[in-house]
Parts: sequence; C-alpha cells; structure tokens
Amino acid sequence: MKLKNKYTVAVIGAGVVGVEMLRVLKQRNFPADNIRVFARSARPLDVDGTIYNVEPISAEAFDGVDIALFAGTEGEKGAAVTFAQEAVKRGCVVIDNGADFRMEKDVPLVVPEVNAGDVKKHKGIIANPNCSTIQMVVALWPIHKKFGIKRIIVTTLQASSGAGKGAVEQLKEELNQIQAGGFNNVHTSVSNKSMPQQLAYNVFPQIGGFTDGDYTSEEWKLVKETHKIMHDNKLKVSATTVRVPVRTGHSESVYIETKKPVTAAQIKKLLSKAPGVILVDDPKTGLYPMPKDVEGKDETFVGRIRNDAFVKNGLWLWVVADNLRKGAATNAVQIAEILVK
Ligand SMILES: NC(=O)c1ccc[n+]([C@@H]2O[C@H](COP(=O)([O-])OP(=O)(O)OC[C@H]3O[C@@H](n4cnc5c(N)ncnc54)[C@H](OP(=O)(O)O)[C@@H]3O)[C@@H](O)[C@H]2O)c1
Repeated sequence: MKLKNKYTVAVIGAGVVGVEMLRVLKQRNFPADNIRVFARSARPLDVDGTIYNVEPISAEAFDGVDIALFAGTEGEKGAAVTFAQEAVKRGCVVIDNGADFRMEKDVPLVVPEVNAGDVKKHKGIIANPNCSTIQMVVALWPIHKKFGIKRIIVTTLQASSGAGKGAVEQLKEELNQIQAGGFNNVHTSVSNKSMPQQLAYNVFPQIGGFTDGDYTSEEWKLVKETHKIMHDNKLKVSATTVRVPVRTGHSESVYIETKKPVTAAQIKKLLSKAPGVILVDDPKTGLYPMPKDVEGKDETFVGRIRNDAFVKNGLWLWVVADNLRKGAATNAVQIAEILVK
C-alpha cells in the first residue's frame, strides 16, 4: 500500500463492531477522505448523527479501497472468507476482525501494545485477535516481559454484545419477557435465539462450540492466539469462557504464575505505566474495574491485583475492557494507524 495523505477506507459489516469502527475512525481522526460501508444489503446507517450509505458488498466494490476493515460474520459464507482475498487482489490491505485467518502462517495477529512489529510481515491480510484475548495480553505482556509468565488460568465473563447485534436483541427480548411476568425458560419463547441458552438472569459456561474436545472454540482461541501474539508456544494457558448478562464489557479473572518472584506491589507499579492499561485498584474504597464504567473506552482496566496466599509466584488480576472498542474496533484502527505511519 502506497503512503498517502488521505485514504479510502471500507468498513465491512454494519453490526455492533462495524458501527463502532465508524465511530473510532472518526474519534481518532483517521486520515480518511472516503469511508465506505459494505454489508449484505443497502440502507442508510446513522452513527451518532452521521449518515453512511451502506452499499451491498461485491468484489468490485473494493476497487480503489486502500484499507478494508472487515467486521462481517465469520465462516464459510461470511464476508472475510468470500471477499478478503478479492480485496487483496485489488490492492487493498485487509484487517479482519473474525477468526477465519488468525492462525494462518502468513497472517500477522496483532495487538499493537504487544507485537506492533508483526504488522510489517503482512501479505495483504492482518488479523485482529479475539476480544477476550486482546484485553488479556495487553494486561499480561508487560508482566511476561519483566518476570516471565509460565502459566495462565483465566475465567472470562463476556458481555452479550460480544456475540453480535442478535445477541444484544436476545438479551433485551428476554428481559422484557421476564418483566412482563415470565421467569424461567424465556429462551424457549423469544423469537431471537442468537445464543445457545437464556442469558437474562442467567450465566452459562459456553462460548463457541465443542468441536475440539472438552474446551470450547473460544477457550482454544485464548490459548492459541496468546501463543501467536506473544511468540511463546510454551506458555501454559487454560481458560473457561462464560457469557454473562452484561450489555458491553468483558471481565476476566486471571491467575498467573511467574518464573521470577513477584509481588502485587511490583505488578501495580509496572501496570500503572504500561501502554494501553489503566490501573483501578483500591478495592477498600470500592475501586476496581467494572464493565459499566469501561463502555466506550479504549484502554484495558486492571484491578484486584493480589498475591496467592499459598503458591509462590502466583498472582491474581481482574481485567476489564470494552469488547467492541479495544476488543475489536479500536485494536483494528490502531493496526491501520501503524500501516499509514
Ligand atoms: N462483537 C464483538 O465484541 C467482537 C469482538 C471481536 C471480534 N468480533 C468479530 O467481528 C465480526 C463482526 O461481529 P459483530 O459482533 O459486529 O456481528 P453482527 O453484529 O452480527 O454484525 C455482522 C455484520 O456482518 C454483515 N455480514 C454478514 N455476512 C456478510 C457478508 N457475506 N458480506 C458482507 N457483510 C456481511 C451483516 O450484514 P447485514 O447487516 O447486511 O446483515 C452485519 O452487518 C465477527 O467476525 C466477530 O467474530 C466481534
């Protein structure tokens, strides 16, 4: 891609991530003189008062586009599988939010605070990691560099918007039905079943499918993507991913064991200066990160840092970020900013 003063940028998908992409491009003053939006059908799209004309996607639509930010549905008939290579053929650099290309050898998987240098290895496609991976590695990378992490055990508490606009609608519909007098099993009567279980007044330990054994696909993403981003396949990562009835903002309870001895005070000091991290850690006064407080923010928030009372070099952290911002749109736009630097 040739460096220019201004770029033509396409956002593919007009769902919860696509809308956030448009917001982030504008808020960060990305040097774009033309922003186009492609989805399956044409319609006007109002994002905070700016009206975008959504165009139906086609291979030809990518002619003249410099950077394509893909935020369409994943999988065989999804936007990236169908159109990413077409866009590359037409001279576009693709930044893809889905899982379709993340583990491919020639596709860098990038979190700018961790492995910005990998961007330059791209051959047309750069992948944005999964939302739950991004916030975890932003918080853990400074610790890994200084103290060496040998083991991570993480339980995620993931918001409904992490599963797209259909899941947000499902949660709303279930809450309405409960308010109207229903209680148990409203999942059977809602018209929108984006998630495999009822989410209102409930949590469930399944994000993704169980095609790969006892762990879900989301749990494997946390393992494999962390290895690729941190360039360390020996890191022991074990995850449980849980959907919770939060609108936006994923929380993670993260346990680590380091190679070198470490204290909670050292980690607090380190993370208070780490790029992209905000330390919120004064639990006695009620200060710790919560999803409701991080909605719309770009940083990863960390608190409840404490040593294990029994295991030497063991430590807990509570990590929260907006899954649509740092977990998706902001990270993708940060990658685009590296490309145009
Ligand atoms: N939600 C998150 O927190 C999050 C975080 C990280 C990564 N991601 C990834 O980001 C992507 C978008 O997720 P989302 O949550 O925004 O989903 P979403 O709300 O369900 O929106 C999906 C969008 O994709 C469009 N689309 C579907 N198939 C398409 C195709 N073949 N060609 C063009 N557009 C197509 C849809 O178009 P129509 O509107 O015309 O139907 C819709 O606008 C997914 O790959 C997801 O895994 C999501």
